[in-house]
Amino acid sequence: MIEIKKQIAAALSAATNDAISAEDAFSALEYPPSPELGDLAFPCFRLSRALHKAPPAIAAELVERFTCPAVERTVVAGGYLNLFIDKTYLASYIIEKTSSDDKPYGASLDGAGKTVVLDYSSPNVAKPFHIGHLGTTVIGHSLKKLHEFAGYHCIGINYLGDWGTQFGKMIVAYRKWGDKATIEREEIDALVALYVRFHAEAEKDPALDDEARAEFHKLECGDPENLALWKWFIEISLREYKKTYKLLGIEFDSYAGESFYTDKMPAQVELLRKRGLLEIDDGASIVNLEKYNMPPCLILKRDGSTLYPTRDIAAAVYRKNTYHFDKAIYVTSAGQSLHFAQWFKVVELMGYDWYDQLVHVPYGTVSIDGAKLATRTGNVVLLKDLFAAAIEKSRAIIEEKNPSLENKDEVADAVGVGAIIFHYLMGSRIKDINFVMEDALSFDGNTGPYAQYTYARTRSILGKADGTPAEKVTVSAPEEGALALCIAQFPERVKSAIADYEPSTITRYILDLCAAFNRFYHACPILGAEDKDVRATRVALVRAASQVLGNALHLICIKTPEKI
Ligand code: ARG
Repeated sequence: MIEIKKQIAAALSAATNDAISAEDAFSALEYPPSPELGDLAFPCFRLSRALHKAPPAIAAELVERFTCPAVERTVVAGGYLNLFIDKTYLASYIIEKTSSDDKPYGASLDGAGKTVVLDYSSPNVAKPFHIGHLGTTVIGHSLKKLHEFAGYHCIGINYLGDWGTQFGKMIVAYRKWGDKATIEREEIDALVALYVRFHAEAEKDPALDDEARAEFHKLECGDPENLALWKWFIEISLREYKKTYKLLGIEFDSYAGESFYTDKMPAQVELLRKRGLLEIDDGASIVNLEKYNMPPCLILKRDGSTLYPTRDIAAAVYRKNTYHFDKAIYVTSAGQSLHFAQWFKVVELMGYDWYDQLVHVPYGTVSIDGAKLATRTGNVVLLKDLFAAAIEKSRAIIEEKNPSLENKDEVADAVGVGAIIFHYLMGSRIKDINFVMEDALSFDGNTGPYAQYTYARTRSILGKADGTPAEKVTVSAPEEGALALCIAQFPERVKSAIADYEPSTITRYILDLCAAFNRFYHACPILGAEDKDVRATRVALVRAASQVLGNALHLICIKTPEKI
């Protein structure tokens, strides 16, 4: 609709003798709350001062003077000029725009020549990879896909939590209660069990924490045995994460985790000192942020060891120098918002002029069936278990409804995982989510499987259709126009999803599109339409819907089986 809206805006500007510029008219155009009112509305209030007239009088004049090939008719509604788009014009436009899969509709070159670095997923090694990480993983990857769709060059970074005192704890726990064979066999489950056990035992015996600190210190000093264990824990964890990423279709460009930046911090600490930003507070080195209404940012502990913000600052500088990003996006739970606000401010105070290219994208916290997550006690739902349950359910449904389906395993994976992602990405990201397993695994109503099923329906129709284009695009039913209108809105939704860092904009769009498509499908015979231009127009609309729906699903990390 962007191009069509531009045409309409230019015509509005002309009809008012330039009392409003085409750009201003463009941004003033609204979508009316219900389709009976019109497809677009122009509020005339904005002109009343310039034209010294009441808005309804301006609307009445515009009805007479406005002409545009994309618009079939206009009506006055109070102070609004409501516009009805010519549906044949619109359908021809959409059919033309979706005619090539190489240049899909909605893709753009807005970000051409620009680089975006995205830091997401980033689980902490040896701790469980659980439902709390679903947000950063799917929001992060979806933002990557959205930016790529808009022509940006994207670098996905998994900033693994591969350093810190938890490794001291793991080393102690392994030596006390672990054994190699069990870990080789049970992999990450065995590691998580050790992690949980450590915390349970340390409650009773706090000396264990001192032991853990000592082991971590040995690791920091390069003790070969501890180093070997550390590497082994990472290897096992990573193997597990990669299975989940594969299910989700996610690949990272870099797994440079926290440990990678160990030798990159001293230079930044030195710079902070040189700039006079460091203050000593109770032995620790901090940057005072009182002026900015924030608590101090901790740089060095009393014993001189570095902290989470120190590492993030060093990592940002490294990434700027390595990737020359135009934007660096960090996706984490809103619980970390202060951390990001603090170190972004410190980067600014250090004099890095790219501080305003750092973007934190927070999301709400997840609880399960009303209960808070608690990693330490093991009260979590692991992502692999969550996906396994969803896949099992989709497999059972396929066995029941379509037992002869080819690639049953692949389809079961795609549908099960799709259900979870879609459910998760339905609401705006900042809202807290109470994850109710039964809802997440529901395949009825407004769900991922419903959208995937709708996509498969488009593919099945296209598989049976011959591809002869219409000699004359012919729109004969309101459902065709409504579908074309919905398809036409895709590029705008993509732009707004990127501007707001909000994948749920796409999820909701998918539901609108599926609804419009299914209404059309039930109201209009497609392959059975008698008139050949009507039939060819409908097939072309199915092709357009299919392309856009498929791309929209991919933008939120959902796979699109051809058959379900
Ligand atoms: N590993 C961290 C966690 O699980 C998230 C890291 C986010 N990225 C960053 N650059 N701080 O809480």
